[in-house]
Amino acid sequence: MTRLGVNIDHVATLRQARYRAYAAASSPEPDPLIAARICLTAGAHSLTVHLREDRRHIQDDDVLRLAREFRDKLNLEMAATPAMVAFALKLKPSEVCLVPENRAEVTTEGGLDAAGQQNTLRPVIQKLRAAGMLVSLFIDPDPHQVAASAALGASVIELHTGRFADADTASRKTELGRLAKAAEQARGLKMQVNAGHGLRLSNLPELLTIPQLHTLNIGHSLVSHALAVGLERSVRDFLQAISDR
Ligand code: PXP
Repeated sequence: MTRLGVNIDHVATLRQARYRAYAAASSPEPDPLIAARICLTAGAHSLTVHLREDRRHIQDDDVLRLAREFRDKLNLEMAATPAMVAFALKLKPSEVCLVPENRAEVTTEGGLDAAGQQNTLRPVIQKLRAAGMLVSLFIDPDPHQVAASAALGASVIELHTGRFADADTASRKTELGRLAKAAEQARGLKMQVNAGHGLRLSNLPELLTIPQLHTLNIGHSLVSHALAVGLERSVRDFLQAISDR
């Protein structure tokens, strides 16, 4: 069965909207650690957090607390910068996913240019692998990027599903075909194939026609759905607390 990795960045987005002065607040909520426990209890197979340079959602302390409790299930998304590599070498999550990062973007917009950045990426991948981490590269479903990822020694790729997720009905089959081809090529090169970005309940059935997918990393839509399915219970709990007085 394809595994589910939950990206809990947007739990922190909600917290940061209110508690930007995080260290000073007594009980900032929602807490990504509590969300992580719930996700794993519900059966999720792994957790993903993206520690961005601008620290817009997940903070260093979140990652430290998550690693203390769930190191073996933690996939740390990060840019391949010296500061983040030093952070990962200290933290040693089970998996590191290297992603491109651009301060101005709302979310990770495209895949990593593994083919064009071999000299930068090779030593980073070697260091992380030597320290025992599984290294994944977040790439577009492009045969050059898949081949470059294998040549760089990555044992995992995560295929960027954003174009598939955003495609209209006319181009959807083409985007799905790109993902399927890339997944087949990567498995032929003995890499594990993950996928993520823009995945929702409505587009999973089509994506899951690709048999090689190991883990799907899903964030925004899963957290949004949690609000929809959990809001009723939240209102009832507050009404109960009020009526108990
Ligand atoms: N995988 C990677 C590498 C990502 O950068 C993101 C977005 O942070 C995701 C998965 C999850 O994407 P979404 O929030 O759209 O589900």
